[in-house]
Amino acid sequence: MRHDHLLSAKQLSRGDIETVLDRAAALADDLGAVAGAHVDRLLGLCFFEPSTRTKMSFDAAMKRLGGDTIDMGGIDSSSVTKGESLADTVRVIEGYADALVLRHPSEGSAQLASEFVDVPVINAGDGAGQHPTQTLLDLYTIRENAGFEDLSVGMMGDLKYGRTVHSLAHALTNFDVSQHFISPESLQLPRSVRYDLHGTGAQIREHTDVEEVVEALDVLYVTRIQRERFPDENEYRKVAGEYRIDAELLERAGDDLTVMHPLPRVDEIAPDVDETDHATYFQQAHNGVPVRMALLDLML
Ligand code: NCD
Repeated sequence: MRHDHLLSAKQLSRGDIETVLDRAAALADDLGAVAGAHVDRLLGLCFFEPSTRTKMSFDAAMKRLGGDTIDMGGIDSSSVTKGESLADTVRVIEGYADALVLRHPSEGSAQLASEFVDVPVINAGDGAGQHPTQTLLDLYTIRENAGFEDLSVGMMGDLKYGRTVHSLAHALTNFDVSQHFISPESLQLPRSVRYDLHGTGAQIREHTDVEEVVEALDVLYVTRIQRERFPDENEYRKVAGEYRIDAELLERAGDDLTVMHPLPRVDEIAPDVDETDHATYFQQAHNGVPVRMALLDLML
């Protein structure tokens, strides 16, 4: 994976995924294992959209590797407010850092940035497009909790605008997984994603009611309705709060069901789920550090 950009989960073969997850597992046992390996390396953090987990875990990962980060800061404090283009911004920051992590509201922005710079670009979310590093930590969490054999995964919520779903669904086609997509009709998978999944021969089923499938699932991946991506706030209001799981609903599920969420959650997982053995979303968020350490270590 040396020197490659990471722009989309579609780039990741099963071999790539296993390499990152194995390295992450070794690091999770001993975060000091590669201490100092990347001294003098700087990672540029370019976040044009809000972020807590992705940005802080990249920051933590790079520092634990012995390197450091430089942060563009919020868009309000950068030259973007003066009208600078993305291409110019990344061409400047490439002169300051050995790799760039980019989050941007436009789909395709990471691909575009990669065409203007020579250092590796890591896509940390491009609009409703892709979020491949989230996918790697999601896969790590799935492997730890459910394994990849004969697996049934449900993805619920905003499948239209949810980039974590678009990435994860694609990556799961590398494994023996049946995928169930659960959403209101207006938030079903985009045609392009469905087309790609069909192209891989993946088994996918679509549902509007989680109760129909919850019993059959090993993993339920819940997502937030992506309010900021709705062109019309009224359309958001029509679906807001429609999908919510709680401890009572999970009584119908198998004991081993793993409930995941990329976070932040709004109201789609009731707090009473946190107390159940199903809740895995905080562990999932914590896995972001060893997984991003492994990825940076391999890419740099
Ligand atoms: C996700 C994202 O930014 O796409 N957050 C994250 O990186 N953990 C999910 C979301 O914002 O709903």
